[in-house]
Amino acid sequence: MTDLAGFVAKLPKAELHLHIEGTLEPELAFAIAERNGLALPYPSVDELRAAYRFSNLQEFLDVYYACAGVLIESRDFYDLTWAYLERAHADNVRHAEIFFDAQTHTARGIEFAAVIEGICGALDDGRDKLGLTSRLILCFLRHLDEADALETLAAAMPYRDRIVGVGLDSGERGNPPRKFEKVFRRAREAGFVPVAHAGEEGPAAYVREALDVLDVVRIDHGNNALDDPDLVTELARRGIPLTVCPLSNLKLCVVEDLASHPLKRMLELGLFVTVNSDDPAYFGGYVNDNYVAVAEALGLGEGDIVKLARNSFDASLLDEVDKARLFGELAVAVTSLERSDDGSNP
Ligand code: ADE
Ligand code: ZN
Repeated sequence: MTDLAGFVAKLPKAELHLHIEGTLEPELAFAIAERNGLALPYPSVDELRAAYRFSNLQEFLDVYYACAGVLIESRDFYDLTWAYLERAHADNVRHAEIFFDAQTHTARGIEFAAVIEGICGALDDGRDKLGLTSRLILCFLRHLDEADALETLAAAMPYRDRIVGVGLDSGERGNPPRKFEKVFRRAREAGFVPVAHAGEEGPAAYVREALDVLDVVRIDHGNNALDDPDLVTELARRGIPLTVCPLSNLKLCVVEDLASHPLKRMLELGLFVTVNSDDPAYFGGYVNDNYVAVAEALGLGEGDIVKLARNSFDASLLDEVDKARLFGELAVAVTSLERSDDGSNP
């Protein structure tokens, strides 16, 4: 029998819910702060890591935005992104769809160009050196007003060829999707693919609004959709993917423990779920850790895990040719695992 972690590690997969600022490990945060002559609000790596105890989304966001403040130069964004890509590659991630929070940086006087050039430089190297493809999604910060999001969309227009989608993140409570109706309409008209965080801390009604008002093609998290049976039926019928993040949900107290995580129920209800890491530097695990932890807690079988990996490619923004290639790679990996299990492939 292959052990669970070994099984997960061998499967090629995509990651579809990943905030690049959420991959900033404390060691890198201190190194970048030092070269930029900045101080973090914590005296050491250990004390910063010790501050990663959150009782809700906002407590996390306060630390996350403070740490993102060390990112100034284009090379900082390059180093951040490259470090994530190396980790993802080690987890057998073949394709990543990556959020970035432009407003967190432009609000501090950083040029949009510096952010995007640094991130894209690393993404190009990830493709060329690691064979890891990617897509970039510009997230609007929902705690800010829509006018700010509209300005950000305008700043993104010159990079239309590098940014495939728009998303919605940050504090969900009290910031419903309808607040961003106009900017999402403009973004869709300009050809950006719309996705949104919904139902993480917010109610099922926010998931409904993200679908009906923002016209999103994918929901990030979506946990609280389960409170509305009609909505669940619609999500399943329309095959709307949910990018679920188990360790994030645990760390932000969206679930009490992983044994009560809704992922298994979502699968049983026929929902199109994927597993992702969200902000892995803060939540104690990259994507494989998420698969292993949730599979262990919920007693998922190898068939469920393969389905989740397959869903990750299927729910991606890749075209059908690329998806077919990745399905093929997954099938080869599964066959090889089956052979090693029956002893014919030592
Ligand atoms: N920004 C980074 N991580 C987030 C999350 N889990 N929810 C909302 N906004 C975020
Ligand atoms: Zn997220």
